[in-house]
Amino acid sequence: MAPTLFELKSWAIQAGKILRAGVGQEHVILHKGTVNLVTEMDQRSEDFLVKEIRQHYPNHRIVTEESGLLEGLDTNCWYIDPLDGTTNYAHGLPIFSVSIGYAEHGQMKLGVVYDPMQDEMFCAEQGGGAWLDDQPLHVSVISELLQSLLVTGFPYDLLDTPQNNLENFTLLSRMSQGVRRLGSAALDLSYVAAGRLDGYWEVRLSPWDLAAGALMVREAGGVVTSLSGSPDLLQPPYSIVAGNPYLQPELLKLLK
Ligand code: IPD
Ligand code: CA
Ligand code: CA
Repeated sequence: MAPTLFELKSWAIQAGKILRAGVGQEHVILHKGTVNLVTEMDQRSEDFLVKEIRQHYPNHRIVTEESGLLEGLDTNCWYIDPLDGTTNYAHGLPIFSVSIGYAEHGQMKLGVVYDPMQDEMFCAEQGGGAWLDDQPLHVSVISELLQSLLVTGFPYDLLDTPQNNLENFTLLSRMSQGVRRLGSAALDLSYVAAGRLDGYWEVRLSPWDLAAGALMVREAGGVVTSLSGSPDLLQPPYSIVAGNPYLQPELLKLLK
């Protein structure tokens, strides 16, 4: 039996409940790097998701953020971000999500991104479309950068790396109506799919950040590539440029 969107949605809602229950509480905050945080809630949400996937699909591989690679068949692979937006969450800022992607033979098949604070469920199925709850999603039709609202993110080692995305941010801030930094890559992509934002890029992510959201944008009629223009996003260096079909090629030309 192949996994279904129904299963992914139900797991994302339950993981979201775990996270929502922790809002406003004190957290155990550990540092994975100087500014890269992890809380006990990331782990709790991930433990729940891994348990469900393992129980239903014991032979599948799972790429997780907190527990690393859990070996299994390389033909069936899950990408889970149990809490996308940890920095927001740790500060009590209610912008975060649960992201679950499922791929077969390296092709994304299913993706869900759940925002427990807004109770918004974004989901997509390869070849079947993308939805917000039961409404079909479509990317925006804005074709001029000057009329666009964009979003980006920055790597945690921003201070130590030359590939810090700051030049891109300055450039696009001058060429658009604004560049937001929301702090959850999975929501950034879902909002592009929903036409709330017109384009998104980030220079260094991880596969669990982008797997579900990239499928969402494509199924909503958008275009997603790496910064070098490759359609294969599940390979390093996990850079991403997403947008509607007018703006994505423009962004690709401008970004470094
Ligand atoms: C982060 C968020 C953020 C992005 C970072 C990611 P995390 O994920 O998606 O928006 O800019 O690159 O690492 O750490 O909150 O799961
Ligand atoms: Ca993430
Ligand atoms: Ca995370």
